[in-house]
Amino acid sequence: MNIAELQATARAMVARGKGLLAMDESSPTIAKRFKKVGIEDTVDNRRTYRELLVSTPGLGSFISGAILYDETIRQSTSDGTPFPKYMADRGIIPGIKVDKGAKNLAGFPGEKVTEGLDALRERLIEYKGMGARFAKWRAVITIGPDIPTPTCIDSNAHALARYAALCQEASLVPIVEPEVLIDGSHTLERCYDVSLQTLRAVFRELAGHRVAFEGMVLKASMVISGLEAPKRAGVEEVADATLRCLLNTVPATVAGVAFLSGGQGNEEATAHLNAMNARHKNLPWPLTFSYSRALQQPVMEHWRANPANAAAAQKLLYHRARMNGAAATGSYNV
Ligand code: 13P
Repeated sequence: MNIAELQATARAMVARGKGLLAMDESSPTIAKRFKKVGIEDTVDNRRTYRELLVSTPGLGSFISGAILYDETIRQSTSDGTPFPKYMADRGIIPGIKVDKGAKNLAGFPGEKVTEGLDALRERLIEYKGMGARFAKWRAVITIGPDIPTPTCIDSNAHALARYAALCQEASLVPIVEPEVLIDGSHTLERCYDVSLQTLRAVFRELAGHRVAFEGMVLKASMVISGLEAPKRAGVEEVADATLRCLLNTVPATVAGVAFLSGGQGNEEATAHLNAMNARHKNLPWPLTFSYSRALQQPVMEHWRANPANAAAAQKLLYHRARMNGAAATGSYNV
């Protein structure tokens, strides 16, 4: 493991005023998102769409890196440049999603465990050879009346730690993503408790597996009310509860925290990140974004696989990236 290289990459991923573009939707997920906006799900549409994203003029001013999916990292832009090289040439660090998805946890109805550890070492070496410099693994924790169980939290934390250790062995920065889902009618307080238990377990396992915190990035969900909660907490409450939770659980040496948007509205996700950075100074780690839906939704809706819409769709991505870049320094004005 080369800690200096890992640390330099991790720091570049969370550089001031920049965040990550998650464009690593698996084939079933992108198919669903395309369908919603009436785009036909073909290899060519997926490739063209992803080229549109990474070729957005000026994107590198606010986007430090982008997370690719296995299909995309093997593809090339229309001029024949492999995606990872195309991105690196523009100052956007290529990363890769390496988990194989959240599957039902046997014996625990309603709960998931993320798969993908088998042969992961070999896959990481291959991705590194293709130009990837970081990886992502997403665990999913669902809030319900009797869940999450400690077994679900511990199984996911254990898998995240084994994944992170393998990444560092391959000199790839692990993005460790334990997502507490926003789905449900739970309160902010309940989300706080579940997030606290989850992050405690995750960092216990990471330490147990000798993961170097300075060479990793935490991809966190915000502490937020459930989407169907009768009364949802306001922006400042979300910002303060999220920081309280992180400060109680995340070691100061972690290179940075990049939030997922998780089904929040586009502006809502930006406002929450901004409030955290505006209200909380001198934090041990930079707080930024690693959004998929909150960056891409307007782009996909506008593009609709029509080349005539491409330039305007890119402007929408540029705009959201710029707003989130501002939020990463607490200087976003609604
Ligand atoms: P969202 O921002 O749409 O939650 O996606 C982030 C992500 O990469 C989930 O793994």
